[in-house]
Amino acid sequence: MASQFASKLVHAWLLSTLIALAMATERSTYIVHMDREMMPKAFTHHQQWYTASLQSLNVTTSVNHEASSETPTNPFYVYENVMNGFSAVLSENEVEALKKIPGVLGVHKDREVKIDTTHTYEFLNLNVASGLWPASNYGEDVIIGVIDTGVWPESESYNDRGMSEIPKRWKGICQAGDEFNISMCNSKLIGVRYFNKGVIAARPGVKISMNSARDTFGHGTHTSSTAAGSYASADYFGYAPGIARGVAHRARLAMYKVIWDEGRYSSDVIAGMDQAVADGVNIISISMGFDDVPLYEDPVAIASFAAMEKGILVSASAGNEGPDLSTLHNGIPWVMTVAAGTIDRQLAGTLILGNGQTIIGATQYPENAFLVDMTLVYNETILECNSPSLLSATAGGQVVICKDNGTARLQEREILQSTVAGAIFITNRTISFSFQSPLIAITPEEGVTLLNYAVNNPSTATITMKFKQTFLGNVRAPRVASFSSRGPSRNVPNVLKPDIMAPGVDVIAAWPSNSPAAFIGNAPLVSDFSILSGTSMSCPHASGVAALLKGARPGWSPAAIRSAMMTTASALDNTMDYIQDMGNNLYPASPLAMGAGQVDPNKALDPGLIYDATPQDYVSLLCASNFTLNKIRLITAGSSKPYDCSKPSTDLNYPSFITNFNSSSTTYYQTFVRTVTNVGDGGATYKVNVLRPVWLSVVVEPDVLVFKDKYEKLSYKVYMKASLPIKISRPYGFGHLVWVDVSGKYKVRSPFVVLV
Ligand SMILES: *[C@@H]1O[C@H](CO)[C@@H](O)[C@H](O)[C@H]1NC(C)=O
Ligand SMILES: *[C@@H]1O[C@H](CO)[C@@H](O)[C@H](O)[C@H]1NC(C)=O
Ligand SMILES: *[C@@H]1O[C@H](CO)[C@@H](O)[C@H](O)[C@H]1NC(C)=O
Ligand SMILES: *[C@@H]1O[C@H](CO)[C@@H](O)[C@H](O)[C@H]1NC(C)=O
Ligand SMILES: *[C@@H]1O[C@H](CO)[C@@H](O)[C@H](O)[C@H]1NC(C)=O
Ligand SMILES: *[C@@H]1O[C@H](CO)[C@@H](O)[C@H](O)[C@H]1NC(C)=O
Ligand SMILES: *[C@@H]1O[C@H](CO)[C@@H](O)[C@H](O)[C@H]1NC(C)=O
Repeated sequence: MASQFASKLVHAWLLSTLIALAMATERSTYIVHMDREMMPKAFTHHQQWYTASLQSLNVTTSVNHEASSETPTNPFYVYENVMNGFSAVLSENEVEALKKIPGVLGVHKDREVKIDTTHTYEFLNLNVASGLWPASNYGEDVIIGVIDTGVWPESESYNDRGMSEIPKRWKGICQAGDEFNISMCNSKLIGVRYFNKGVIAARPGVKISMNSARDTFGHGTHTSSTAAGSYASADYFGYAPGIARGVAHRARLAMYKVIWDEGRYSSDVIAGMDQAVADGVNIISISMGFDDVPLYEDPVAIASFAAMEKGILVSASAGNEGPDLSTLHNGIPWVMTVAAGTIDRQLAGTLILGNGQTIIGATQYPENAFLVDMTLVYNETILECNSPSLLSATAGGQVVICKDNGTARLQEREILQSTVAGAIFITNRTISFSFQSPLIAITPEEGVTLLNYAVNNPSTATITMKFKQTFLGNVRAPRVASFSSRGPSRNVPNVLKPDIMAPGVDVIAAWPSNSPAAFIGNAPLVSDFSILSGTSMSCPHASGVAALLKGARPGWSPAAIRSAMMTTASALDNTMDYIQDMGNNLYPASPLAMGAGQVDPNKALDPGLIYDATPQDYVSLLCASNFTLNKIRLITAGSSKPYDCSKPSTDLNYPSFITNFNSSSTTYYQTFVRTVTNVGDGGATYKVNVLRPVWLSVVVEPDVLVFKDKYEKLSYKVYMKASLPIKISRPYGFGHLVWVDVSGKYKVRSPFVVLV
């Protein structure tokens, strides 16, 4: 079907018009987007067309389907599901010539991708008696495709005890390779594939050390078992003991390994997502992203558009570049963008001072260090702990007090190289507590107690340090992790991102049993479980919840699932006060940090109202941005549907709101229109409640919505207007509007942000 976008293109296939080329010597790998509608009739298959296009440039070609460690032939990937086109090794001159061929929508250099690296399900209130777990049968019919570093198939988390047969619609395979044979897949891990031609093309002659879906890193084993791991008894060197299981622990897993020790390239990521869509997954979980890429060149944006169109929800990590604003990646309107928060579990060490006072600190040091009644050394000169020789001379064999100087990792190395027996590290940051020597981190407030004791007992202060302790429920949680990347999305300023927050700090999950999980000194230790932090860890939690919802509500679109998760998310923590932001002095967290708030799976099952969006709605948003039609085609070209730009709109039917009153100094008002679908049982009446900053007026019209039937849709308008001058210390204000069902059953909450 001809679409509007095609009209901008030249409709002739004129090989002869190609200019002669000088072969440049510098060759790199490129991703080439093709418009399938432009394929000349002379070709029967698009692959022939791609090859002919390359041959016309005198690039050596031959279609090659086998993964190999030799330099790949061109085109080395053909993409069919999430976009139309291929990857090839080309010179700059060849790229310039290729761009002139009719039907070539765009050519982009392959990019490097950035990965965002027992108790979490209880913290999310998932339980066997009621709510989303039983309603979805734990996600039994749902397939989650994980785009990552592979799996360690021997892990207990992939056992398939009690699992029913693999759903018939599954079209994927268990691809054999190095140390991976097809009997390693089962009814839990139903498929694996691996994609590394992009790495091989970028680094000719490279030897792939583990040419299979086997995980040599651990990241993919950790993320996939977090989303859908089976029951397994877990602990991490004595910390966090318990039963580990994924959020959707009966959902099926398919792993697409695209990240390699030898490199990580977007051409491989697209190949993995392309295959996942073809194989029939329901949810794609992708804990990685591309920084500073325009939307129409972002592999995740392009591949996820086609996935969304086919009803597949893509859940992606926001990134670990917080707490500054505008740091997030994957701020894509048709993706669920996930921020990271803490949980109420402390992996701890206890300090017992000589006067009997105790302080609980943070540590994951994997050994009982037997530091009992040690001499406690407090010395201003070495407080920064940045010299192994000074440390050894002053506190050798004793316990020393250190202060974070902003580069804790380097300080930890200095301590490791000294002869001190142990150290107490005063810090207010969420650093990695997987210490390699006996260290316990405490906050500056707790530091006051410790320093008072040390100063008042200069030569007699003693201390006992205990490790391997786990406490539950003692701390305020969740809090937004300081590392979690913040909105707004630079790519799409009209959509508030991130969408939601899930647990991403100190998450325990499966780990390859031959990959170091901890160190004592420089000696590696192995474990079948590891503890990691990052939005890489929060993303699969949200993916798991989405899988459960898909199981319980199979007819819901990806936008509906995301809407249900967002409008029922909680902005309050376990003290029923506002969730705090660790990256902003524990002030109440803004939606730019946590989106709608902490995901609440059971409430998401029954949200009352849904903000739905169709693929055309997203295209209308793109049409209203300043992308050329050709650039929009780069995103939508994987589709056979005729999208148009007849109704451009920056006002996507999204469950949240964002506007910028500073981009032009003349307007300080904004109107939004939203349409909600009643998914509660039967009729219902909703009234609106607004929480807003004093300088902002918010009017909702109408302020009562009366639904007569299930699935009825009603629209409302929101007018926001700032009273001038706006004088606030931050570059934004925020609040929310909540539609409250008069029967008291539902609260449908939408956060908003006004940038100033
Ligand atoms: C490709 O090679 C053929 C034969 O050697 C030559 O005639 C043609 O000009 C070349 N085309 C380009 C684009 O270099
Ligand atoms: C696959 O590997 C497992 C474990 O190494 C082995 O027991 C099994 O026999 C292998 N199966 C095949 C078909 O090679
Ligand atoms: C902190 O200490 C480490 C370890 O000695 C040192 O490398 C680093 O430069 C120090 N950083 C600052 C900001 O002083
Ligand atoms: C503090 O450490 C410095 C450096 O090792 C040392 O010269 C000094 O004597 C120490 N002070 C005390 C009070 O021990
Ligand atoms: C941590 O402490 C430093 C110095 O005391 C302070 O400047 C910084 O704002 C604090 N950071 C947070 C996140 O509280
Ligand atoms: C589109 O471009 C115009 C002119 O360059 C600019 O004023 C406007 O803000 C841009 N709109 C968006 C959504 O970027
Ligand atoms: C407008 O916002 C941008 C980024 O959000 C900020 O850098 C800039 O200073 C703001 N301009 C004004 C006039 O406040």
